[in-house]
Amino acid sequence: MTVLHSRYNVLKEEQNQLKTRLNEIQGTLDINYMTGHRLMWPAWPPNDKKLISKYKTISTQSYIRMISVLNVIRYITKNKINGDIVECGVYKGITPVLCAIECLKLNNMKHIWSYDTYEGVPSEDITEEDMYEADDGSNKHAKTWLEERNNEWCKCSLSQVEKNVKKTNYPDELLYFIKGKVQDTIPAHIPDQISFLRLDMDLGEPTKHALNFLWDKLNINGVLQIDDYGFFKGVRNVIDEFFSDKHVYIHGIDMTAIGIIKLKKG
Ligand SMILES: C[S@@+](CC[C@H](N)C(=O)[O-])C[C@H]1O[C@@H](n2cnc3c(N)ncnc32)[C@H](O)[C@@H]1O
Repeated sequence: MTVLHSRYNVLKEEQNQLKTRLNEIQGTLDINYMTGHRLMWPAWPPNDKKLISKYKTISTQSYIRMISVLNVIRYITKNKINGDIVECGVYKGITPVLCAIECLKLNNMKHIWSYDTYEGVPSEDITEEDMYEADDGSNKHAKTWLEERNNEWCKCSLSQVEKNVKKTNYPDELLYFIKGKVQDTIPAHIPDQISFLRLDMDLGEPTKHALNFLWDKLNINGVLQIDDYGFFKGVRNVIDEFFSDKHVYIHGIDMTAIGIIKLKKG
């Protein structure tokens, strides 16, 4: 028994050394393979890395996208941009969780709106365009995804999301969870003003619907993030058309997400 125990300790020590070495190699390469994603891992503050590592299990986002959510909260706080925080397509709630944590930290208490079916991506909304990757119609990645996952695609119940977000201790009265397809819940239930809008529903039709009603609510210098621009053709087509005549600054966040800063009304 004693021999087994000491052998266990030796193996445990070896495992820890290997983990440390792996972290060093990942740091050198600036790449994190641990989550199965091939992600850039730039020199962000260690506390941000710690925070997002903790919440990776409730996210579909890359690390850099999650950090960019934290950075938007810092930006709207520092620049005193009025308006609520909105995400359409929350899945397990990583965006409202990160926003709540950072708003609490900065004492900038904003209303946070989380729109979702809370039943997954509605298969009846999937169009032919949604079936393809945005940059290359020959890549069937998105189609395979859709067919394999169908109704189970990003399904998380409202009660689970509420639980995840409320664990942050953000005041209940500042949290709105709007259940249903955005085509049915918007514009009946929307804020007057938005400082940060995030769209992450994977499909073109609901993205267009949300934009048609929420873009006007986004204040000047407010930020819009589109998670799916690089992955889904349906979403990319909607964004390209919608912003063709708008005064905005658009920048890339990672292989799919983009950030858009509103510079003028309209
Ligand atoms: C990719 S997941 C969102 C991921 C999440 N933002 C994250 O970072 O982990 C897509 C979400 O969009 C929701 N969704 C898709 N179509 C929708 C619609 N028409 N109305 C409301 N929610 C929708 C799905 O239920 C799903 O939770």
